[in-house]
Amino acid sequence: MALWGGRFESGPDAFFRALNDSLRFDYRLAKHDIAGSTAWARAIARAGVLSAEELTRLEKALGELAGLVEREPEAPLGAVLGHGSESRATQDEDIHSWVERQLIIRVGDLGKKLHTGRSRNDQVATDLRLWTREAIDDRLAELLACRRSLVALAEREIGTVLPGYTHLQRAQPVLLAHWCLAYIEMLERDEGRLHDARRRVNVCPLGSGALAGTAYAIDRAALARDLGFDTPSRNSLDAVSDRDFVIETLAACALTAAHLSRLGEDLILYGSQEFGFIEFDDAVSSGSSLMPQKKNPDAAELLRGKTGRVVGALVSMLTTLKGLPLAYNKDLQEDKEPLFDAMDHLSLGLRVVPRILDTLKVRREVCARAAAGGYTNATDLADYLVAKGVPFRTAHEQVGAAVRAALANQTPLENLTLAELRAHCPRAEQDVFAAIALTAGLTRRELPGGTGPSSVTRALVAAQTRLSAHSLP
Ligand code: ARG
Repeated sequence: MALWGGRFESGPDAFFRALNDSLRFDYRLAKHDIAGSTAWARAIARAGVLSAEELTRLEKALGELAGLVEREPEAPLGAVLGHGSESRATQDEDIHSWVERQLIIRVGDLGKKLHTGRSRNDQVATDLRLWTREAIDDRLAELLACRRSLVALAEREIGTVLPGYTHLQRAQPVLLAHWCLAYIEMLERDEGRLHDARRRVNVCPLGSGALAGTAYAIDRAALARDLGFDTPSRNSLDAVSDRDFVIETLAACALTAAHLSRLGEDLILYGSQEFGFIEFDDAVSSGSSLMPQKKNPDAAELLRGKTGRVVGALVSMLTTLKGLPLAYNKDLQEDKEPLFDAMDHLSLGLRVVPRILDTLKVRREVCARAAAGGYTNATDLADYLVAKGVPFRTAHEQVGAAVRAALANQTPLENLTLAELRAHCPRAEQDVFAAIALTAGLTRRELPGGTGPSSVTRALVAAQTRLSAHSLP
């Protein structure tokens, strides 16, 4: 049933409907459309459009409808009140049409009063803001769970040392807990961005009408409060036609996805046979249909792989909005699918992270051996020489030569004899060996933000405290 048949002599073409109809995806707004409609019914009742008795009947019918879509979220797609077998021609164009028709089925002509003073333009903008707000809250809870798992992993592996990398070459040893804390930082900033976006999402367009503002005496502040919005929108043209709130949210999601892709990539590398630092649980791995020996890190690969579609959703929305004249244009209907898709897949990724991390096996010995190999203590040797009065640039040069000699002998720096070391680093003395031991390198980095064991323990306690402070109920 179309909401706008009066002016038309003939019905819509089937292919036009295939292009135009949005129920197929906007049925997901049902709950929010019903909430928005309920608040609107109250608002027009306050404005004298509905009697108290009419409002009560509408609220009751909307309540029933809310119950229905809660039990059966896909009810709008068919099979409701015997309308399941209807042909495409009699199906509803969008979720707003569906809700209205369901109301009319339940309360007759009274249902036809609800749309007084409202347009689908302010209605859909409101619905989508309610949907986005809820999605943000869900992602925030999921991000928190990821942080919790990272903190738990750091606590479990508090003594584990692995090589830190730059250019994917072994650089300096770091604590695995320090690595965990790096991702905790990224995810906390992601949460911050979502919180920030949420403030601008949480504004109520309802009352903007089609574009110029409604002609009824609506108390917009009360209406906004009713829906949990912080404030009504300030300009009707803007409120019905901008989707920057979707874009901001997607931008925050795209960054989160990018962070998950980095986490995924680190895990994939560390889990490879070449690194051998970690092993994934069977529950988050898959096998090969051909090669019986394979155990593939698909979960981590998809953390990496899902990023493309989230970034794609962001680019898609930016492109849709670009150059649109004020105010509402049907192009804006293209806002939902990218947003829904990005949120669905980001959510899957975020919910998999704790499953990967909580069951991760860390091969501490392999990590420690790798951390000690690869001349990761070369900087410490240079620092040692600096302490003996050698200018850093000279020390760098001398240590480089010592590394070259050690490489030629296929031995780590600490296995060279003092005489061999001195051939390149004349200021080295017996105490050099303590200075270039693995643990010495770590303990020299006891400053805020560094990988020294005490610094990391302090950072972990702080991360834990922030986690409990921000825990959702
Ligand atoms: N399905 C539409 C959308 O998603 C609802 C708004 C339709 N408004 C209109 N004037 N045709 O944007």
